[in-house]
Amino acid sequence: MFDPLDLYECDQKDIPTETDVQYSIKHEQNIDSKNNDETETTKDEEDFDGDDMIAPLYVLDLPMVAYASPQVILATLYLLKPATQVNFKSSKSVSTEEICESKGLDQDLRESIVDWYKNIFPNNKANTIEKICNKIPLIANVSEIERSSLLNYYTSILKKYETPTNSSYLKTNIVKEVSLRIAECCGRSAIPSMSRDFTFDNMTNKISLFEPSLTNDNLGWKTWGASLILSEILVENFNKMPNFKPNQDDRPLNVLELGAGTGLVGISWACKWKEEYGDDNSNINMYVTDLPEIVENLKQNVVNNKIDTFVTADVLDWTNPADFVEKYNVQDRSFDIILVADPIYSPNHPEWVVNMVSKFLKYDGICYIEIPIRLKYAKERQILIELLNNHGFKITADRYDQGMDDWGSVKYLYREITHK
Ligand SMILES: C[S@@+](CC[C@H](N)C(=O)[O-])C[C@H]1O[C@@H](n2cnc3c(N)ncnc32)[C@H](O)[C@@H]1O
Repeated sequence: MFDPLDLYECDQKDIPTETDVQYSIKHEQNIDSKNNDETETTKDEEDFDGDDMIAPLYVLDLPMVAYASPQVILATLYLLKPATQVNFKSSKSVSTEEICESKGLDQDLRESIVDWYKNIFPNNKANTIEKICNKIPLIANVSEIERSSLLNYYTSILKKYETPTNSSYLKTNIVKEVSLRIAECCGRSAIPSMSRDFTFDNMTNKISLFEPSLTNDNLGWKTWGASLILSEILVENFNKMPNFKPNQDDRPLNVLELGAGTGLVGISWACKWKEEYGDDNSNINMYVTDLPEIVENLKQNVVNNKIDTFVTADVLDWTNPADFVEKYNVQDRSFDIILVADPIYSPNHPEWVVNMVSKFLKYDGICYIEIPIRLKYAKERQILIELLNNHGFKITADRYDQGMDDWGSVKYLYREITHK
């Protein structure tokens, strides 16, 4: 998989020169040397010791399309469905019952697939529902090399069941499920709509976000890795942040998120606030904002996570904030806190973002920003710093972090920005 923003094209004149990139990288490395990066090490796969319970299954062990019944094929496709992700990683189901329920395997389908492995295609590695439920889902995480065998398996199912005469409920479901499995093999830009869950060490509630299928340029329909890192920093240090508490006077604390996308940063911040201070909107007033095509899904995520008593999702276009200002009667420099994750992926973005921070951040407010280190946007990151400086801002804290996105490990830069 790959970062879809690596494919975004900016004008030739805006492509960073080698000197620009070297300057930016050098500057960023200076900050880097102040940080002690700890990269998570992955646990080596345990060796197979000959026990049938842990002996893995491979694509070749999947039920043969030519001979297995439609029930067995449907059960297999359900088991190959990806688990709901938590913090960009596949969640681990604990019990067989839990796996069957989450994947949609009823009693009939369970018996059919056990029957296949036990009687029709005897295989001790998969002769119980426990073994089947624990092993088949792992086949979906195959390496790039094995992925073509899995795709061949899926296309042979499609070939057999995708005919005009196949109209039974079972066969229609097989075609629907196998099409989804094929799409899921093609990376985040191709997969259908999905939900993702997020949990944080310092918060009881789980965040659940809906992500529509990525179409056109609607980048805000995906949750980006920068928003997870920023949420972790803010939620897990919530009680240490001097300004994350109700104001001493009667004024509500004003919080604004720019380019919220699916809303992870603002929603996790608001859920943590609710756990600490309740959802009374007399001491907090929060807006999560984005472009019009992104806001409908954002609104739904705010409602689904039960913070709509004090959080409003609405349009705030960085090129035209007047509608937002007028609708909510927002004064200049009235936000105590501004949150922004991954806002820089075109030559115009640094200027637009700095304009928004200049317009809305209070004199004693703090803007928290998280930016992925994409080589292609080194110049834009450099311009952002210059513009912030020119507009009378200073960086009061910064650090690098290693985080996750759909295509793997990504490096991020966190910054706190205040007026000089
Ligand atoms: C890479 S996405 C990041 C989304 C989210 N912050 C996250 O990290 O998951 C960039 C976001 O900025 C929004 N955006 C881009 N241009 C904008 C503009 N002119 N006004 C408001 N939002 C904009 C996009 O719609 C998108 O949601």
